[in-house]
Amino acid sequence: MSNELKTTWRSPSNIALVKYWGKKAGVQIPANASISFTLEHCYSETTVTLTPKAKKTKDIELRFYFDGKANMAFQIKLLRFFESIRKDFSLLQTHGLLIHSTNSFPHSSGIASSASAMSALALCLCDLQQQLDGKKLSDEKFYQKASHYARLGSGSAARSVYPLAASWGKTNSIKGSSDAVATAYGKNLNKVFHDFQNTILIASSAEKKVSSRVGHSLMKTNPFAKVRYTQAAKNLKELLVALKKGDLQKFGSIVEEEAMTLHALMMCSNPSFILMAPSTLLMIEKIRAFREKTGLPVYFTLDAGPNIHLLYPKSISKKVDAFIYGHLEQYCEQGKMIHDNVGKGPYRVKA
Ligand code: PMV
Repeated sequence: MSNELKTTWRSPSNIALVKYWGKKAGVQIPANASISFTLEHCYSETTVTLTPKAKKTKDIELRFYFDGKANMAFQIKLLRFFESIRKDFSLLQTHGLLIHSTNSFPHSSGIASSASAMSALALCLCDLQQQLDGKKLSDEKFYQKASHYARLGSGSAARSVYPLAASWGKTNSIKGSSDAVATAYGKNLNKVFHDFQNTILIASSAEKKVSSRVGHSLMKTNPFAKVRYTQAAKNLKELLVALKKGDLQKFGSIVEEEAMTLHALMMCSNPSFILMAPSTLLMIEKIRAFREKTGLPVYFTLDAGPNIHLLYPKSISKKVDAFIYGHLEQYCEQGKMIHDNVGKGPYRVKA
């Protein structure tokens, strides 16, 4: 139809190096500042088509398809999200939305898709709204706006809109940092991190027993919360130096401490919960032993789930591949893994 308006964005997932875990009062305000690498191959691709509403109605008109199939569960979640931002997007009043979304990674891989999905959707909304308004924002303002709405959809999604690396959360260590939007951090990275590898070893693809939303809220009563937030600030400050210098040893020790702390916090929450699998621990032991034996800079981090994110410089990929296929593949669920790397951020897909 001629008065249809349509856009497609591809937006990647990200992996936190200093973790966001716990919220302050307000809507998606992080209790501590975090920083992540933006990935490349794990992404969501979302197309939003706008059609002028046939009748004047306040109701949000939405049809949502995931992997080509109507998905009611997601549609209901999205409707709630759109209700919360409707005053900021006149397109929600004037147009009906048809949304098609897909992920590059298998749905059942245990990889969280909220960061890529919500950032892709926010980019589509901001793009379409500016097309309707006929006012083009500067790139800086456009990505800030997209980061803001991505954050309202899913906190960590705020960081996915920038290439290479992004921080999120107010901190004295990063100029211009904010709780409301992420800050691009790619320009401050040493070259070695520009093509850093991130192999995701799938320990289990089973659905999480406890959602991130519940995990964040349990930090309110966690007896170690205050110490954790002090530690996060210190780790962030020191990590920034390592990221700039290319100090891999320091990078690795902070990143692993962050992963272990995240999961320790889950275990000592009340109620306590465990998101690691037995094979997660077996792989951690193997990675540490391999590093000790070879001296190679191979490190791990974990998301809020059992899968290992193996982090290493591209220059040692061959040796690490031999280690992965020789010693880690056997602990992955059906040998499943995803080879990813630091990426260039989201982009609009040409029609
Ligand atoms: O964005 P959320 O609410 O799914 O929380 C993400 C939390 C972690 O992935 C564990 C850490 C992070 O900073 O991404």
